[in-house]
Amino acid sequence: MPQWLKNAVFYEIYPQSFYDSNGDGIGDIQGIIQKLDYVKALGCNAIWLNPVYDSPFMDAGYDVRNYKKVAPRYGTNDDLIELFSVAHSKGIKILLDLVPGHTSDTCQWFIDSKKHKKNEYSNRYIWTDSVWEAPPKYRLMCGISERDGNYLVNYFSSQPALNYGFANVTHPAWQLPTDHPDCQKTVEAIKDIMRFWLDKGCDGFRVDMADSLVKNDDDKRPTAKIWRGIREMLDKDYPEAALVSEWCNPERAINDGGFHCDFYLDHRGNGYSTMFRYTNYETGKDESYYCKDGNGDITVFTEEYTRSLEKTKGNGYISFITGNHDVPRMTKTLDNRAIRLAYATILTMPGVPFVYYGDEIGMRYIENLPSKEGGFSRTGSRTPMQWNSGKNLGFSTADSDKLYLPVDSSEDAPTVENQTGKEGSIFETVKAVIKLRRENEDLGNDGGFEVVYAEKGEYPFIYKRGSFVIAVNPKGEQTEAVFEFSGEKAFEIGDTEIKDGKITLGAQSMVILKV
Ligand code: NOJ
Repeated sequence: MPQWLKNAVFYEIYPQSFYDSNGDGIGDIQGIIQKLDYVKALGCNAIWLNPVYDSPFMDAGYDVRNYKKVAPRYGTNDDLIELFSVAHSKGIKILLDLVPGHTSDTCQWFIDSKKHKKNEYSNRYIWTDSVWEAPPKYRLMCGISERDGNYLVNYFSSQPALNYGFANVTHPAWQLPTDHPDCQKTVEAIKDIMRFWLDKGCDGFRVDMADSLVKNDDDKRPTAKIWRGIREMLDKDYPEAALVSEWCNPERAINDGGFHCDFYLDHRGNGYSTMFRYTNYETGKDESYYCKDGNGDITVFTEEYTRSLEKTKGNGYISFITGNHDVPRMTKTLDNRAIRLAYATILTMPGVPFVYYGDEIGMRYIENLPSKEGGFSRTGSRTPMQWNSGKNLGFSTADSDKLYLPVDSSEDAPTVENQTGKEGSIFETVKAVIKLRRENEDLGNDGGFEVVYAEKGEYPFIYKRGSFVIAVNPKGEQTEAVFEFSGEKAFEIGDTEIKDGKITLGAQSMVILKV
């Protein structure tokens, strides 16, 4: 386990939209270098960078053309190496995004794989053995090459699935078992890419669709086995490198796969979604527990989370996120006060937390944008970071029609400048809670977690982390509960009172008590 993960608080940077240092309208690596002090002042000491590799950008860079080359629009390999070293000098770690499940259809491996003549890359992807062989169970692209066969898609059509084999081979004419030498070569190719960047100074990887490697893999154990092998390589040669999975199955990812962290993602109906992001599709109403009139059920979260925590104890971390580049920003459905409560909760949970760029200032989800680079509904969460009241809100000096995406045009768009020092802002809340977390081990990544009060359909929600008790009432009305703790308020939102064995929490309020 990399020691630095014990105190890590991550900041996710979507490079296109963070800071444009050369005025061409798109964010770049030099721009990130210039903003490292900002990340540090926020209290974060690690960054997850979305893909920065050469790509035709049909899926914003998750369609990699060349894993070993930085996309020119972001800079050069030397810029990225400079980012590693300047970040390290400031005590900040950098995780790159590893995309092991698929490449772009413009990747040289795939260009070779499409050829009629057998070659080293023929089995790097999954092809049926004839263009007429297209079982409907599989997402196949048909009739696109001189090779007689159809390729399996991993995400968008332009993202052919790399071949790690099949757990359950049902069509032996074209499905390989996972121990086939060509499938093993795919694993070696991914390890080679990891070594390439680790040798240049990166601190590990966030792994895209980590569960997607082996096909016909219902219980995902064969996929986990591949990751376990990769973890062995890290333990041996790069013991301080971290692996974070986009999987959302901590038992499989952490215990079996050897991931150091697994994201708690917004999967409809799970604990995270019912807390913060649960819209009733029939009524259109937000029924999240954190919505002030949501009336959500907190026990979905407490039951799921405590079980996962118990099962993975000592092996790795469950990572809470404020958001990410794939989901609407919480501002779409929750008001400012609810978001402060939500982020203060997220940042007082165990595990390694991640703050998505711009969430800390309450950036809005921008509705109705045309899809950019395969973003579709995700595009509204990917708009440029809002720094100040200057041109393009400080993101870029380019003319506004040249920007990667438009900046928020509302009069009251939040910026780092106008949120700094503003009492009751999301920004000041995030900074204060991260500070408290980093100063108190009990509130940190390894600290304990006990549910004190969580009842179906009831408010407040109370939990204990070592010498801290946290009580939160997201409801739009006052609520109270039996409370046997006393101590000093370390942080508060709204009005809370502890008296006579009882806690009273005003509408949308929270207290972190040092007992
Ligand atoms: C998950 C990534 O977060 C998302 O942005 C991407 O489109 C898919 N994986 C495909 O790589």
